Amino acid sequence: MRGITRAGLILVAILAAAAAGLAAWSPLPLAEWLRDPRAAFFYAEGWNPYPVRLLRPMPAPLSAMAQLGKKIFFDPGLSSSRRLSCASCHVPRDAYGPAGALPAMFGGQALTLQGVRAVPSLRYLERQPNFGIGPDNAEDETANRSTMPPRGAGAPRAGKTAQNSVNAAAGLVPQGGLFWDGRADTLQNQALIPLSSPFEMDGGSVAEIAARLARASYAPAFARLFGPSVFSDAQMAVAEAMFAVARYQIEDIDFHPYTSKFDFWLEGKARMSPAELRGFLVFNDPHKGNCAACHLDRPGADGLPPLFTDHQFEALGVPRNPALAVNRDPSYFDLGLCGPFRTDMKTMTQYCGFFATPSLRNVARRRTFFHNGIYNSLQQVLDFYDFRDTYPEKVYPDTRKMKPDMYNDLPQRYRSNVDKLDAPFTGTPSGQPPLAAQEVQDVIAFLGTLTDGYRPPGGT
Ligand code: HEC
Ligand code: HEC
Repeated sequence: MRGITRAGLILVAILAAAAAGLAAWSPLPLAEWLRDPRAAFFYAEGWNPYPVRLLRPMPAPLSAMAQLGKKIFFDPGLSSSRRLSCASCHVPRDAYGPAGALPAMFGGQALTLQGVRAVPSLRYLERQPNFGIGPDNAEDETANRSTMPPRGAGAPRAGKTAQNSVNAAAGLVPQGGLFWDGRADTLQNQALIPLSSPFEMDGGSVAEIAARLARASYAPAFARLFGPSVFSDAQMAVAEAMFAVARYQIEDIDFHPYTSKFDFWLEGKARMSPAELRGFLVFNDPHKGNCAACHLDRPGADGLPPLFTDHQFEALGVPRNPALAVNRDPSYFDLGLCGPFRTDMKTMTQYCGFFATPSLRNVARRRTFFHNGIYNSLQQVLDFYDFRDTYPEKVYPDTRKMKPDMYNDLPQRYRSNVDKLDAPFTGTPSGQPPLAAQEVQDVIAFLGTLTDGYRPPGGT
C-alpha cells in the first residue's frame, strides 16, 4: 500500500511539475530532484529534499512600551460598553482572529451594532508594506502615496500565475496597507479606528479616549513612560497609546511565531502526509489551484518565511452575504478599494470590488472567510474557487430568470472588474472544474499545515 502511494506520488509530482513548469521553483528546485533520484525519493517520502534555514524573529522580552501596549490591547475599559477590548475580536488563542463563525462582530454601547466586515487575523502583519499602486513584485523607491494613485489610473490589467510574474510585472497594481481595503498604513494609525468606531469599541472622541486612559489601572505606567504631563494633551496621549499598541504587536513573538508544520517542512524537520503533499502541488500548479500566484508560498532568498499573500488586491466577486445587516439595503455595496470606508480612490472605478489578499497562515483555524464572512468552512471556500465559473448556480442565488446572478455583491457596472484572467477562474459554464473533488480535499489538507504551534518530532 505504502509502495503504491509512493509510486503514485512520484508520478503525480513529476506530471504536475512538468506541466506546471515548477522547475524554476527555488529554493525547492524540483527540476533538480527530477534528475536526482535521491531527492525524488525524499520528496515522495514527504520530506523537503532541499531544506532551507528560515529566518524567524528572535524572541525577546517586551519593552516597557510594548508591555503598556499589551495592557491597552486587553483593556475593555476603553470601550463604551466596557466589555470590548481589541482581544475580544482578535482572540489570542485563535491566531488573533475571531473566535466564532459570525460574519462580523457586534460592538457599540450595548454590543448590538453589527460590524460590516470579517475580523482578520493580526498575525504576520509585521512585514506589511504601506499602501500604494506600483509595479507588481517590485519595490519602487520613487513611488510614494501621493504620486501612486494617479499613475495607477488606466494601468493595464495584469495576469498572474503561480510560476510566471513576468507579464504581470508590466502592470501597476494596488498593494499593501492594513484593513481589507488597505486604508491604514501603520499599526499605530490603524488602532484608533476600532477604538473610536461607533460599531466597534465606540470609545468616543480623542478627548474621551484620553480620559479613559487617564482612569486606567496602567495610567501611572503611562505617565512614567511619557512624562507626567502626557494626559494634558489628549491628542498626544492617544497617539502614544496607539504607538504602544503597535509596539506590542511588533515585539511580541506570538504575533509572528512561524511555527507551522509547513515552516518545519521547509526546514527539513517535518514530513508531509501524501494528501498534504498532493495539495501543495495543486496549490502551486498554475493550471489547477494557481493559489500560490496570490498566496505566495516561497521563502525569500534571505530565508524570510513565506507569508501566503502577495500583499496585493483582487476582485474575486464573492457572493453577497445576506447575514450582514448593512446588506438589507439593496443599494449598499462594499466596494473595497473604492469605498465606502476609504474615499481617496473613489474615482478609480477599475478597482471597485478589490479586496486585500489575506495571508493563509492559520486559515484552518478560522470559521468565517472572505471580507464579508460569507463562508464558514474551507470546503465552501474551495467550492467557490472551483465552481464560480464552471457551475455558478452552486455559488450565486438564482434570479427570477433562472440565471445565477453572478458577482451579485457588486453593482452591475463594476462586475467587469472581477478577475477572470487567472486560474482557477478560467473555466467555462458547465465545463470541467479546475479542481477534482479529491484535489479539493488535498488542498484543504495542505492548508492545515499552515497552523502555528506544530511540534516537529525531532524538536525545533
Ligand atoms: C468589534 C470587533 C473589533 C475590535 C474590538 C477591534 N477590531 Fe481590529 N479589526 C476588526 C475588523 C472587522 C477589521 C477589518 C476591518 C476592515 O477591513 O475595514 C479589523 C482590522 C484590524 C487590523 C488590520 C488587519 C489587517 O489584516 O489588515 C488591525 C491591525 C487591527 N484590527 C487591530 C486592532 C486593535 C489594535 C484593536 C484595539 C484597539 C482592534 N483591532 C479592535 C474588528 C475589531
Ligand atoms: C488572483 C489572486 C488569488 C488566487 C489565484 C487565489 N486567491 Fe485566495 N484570496 C484572494 C483574495 C483577493 C482573497 C480575499 C477576497 C475577498 O475577501 O473578497 C482571498 C481569500 C482566500 C481565503 C479566505 C481567507 C480569509 O481569511 O478569509 C482562502 C481560504 C483562500 N483565499 C484560499 C485560496 C486557495 C486555496 C486558492 C487556490 C485554489 C486561492 N485562494 C487562489 C486572492 C487569490
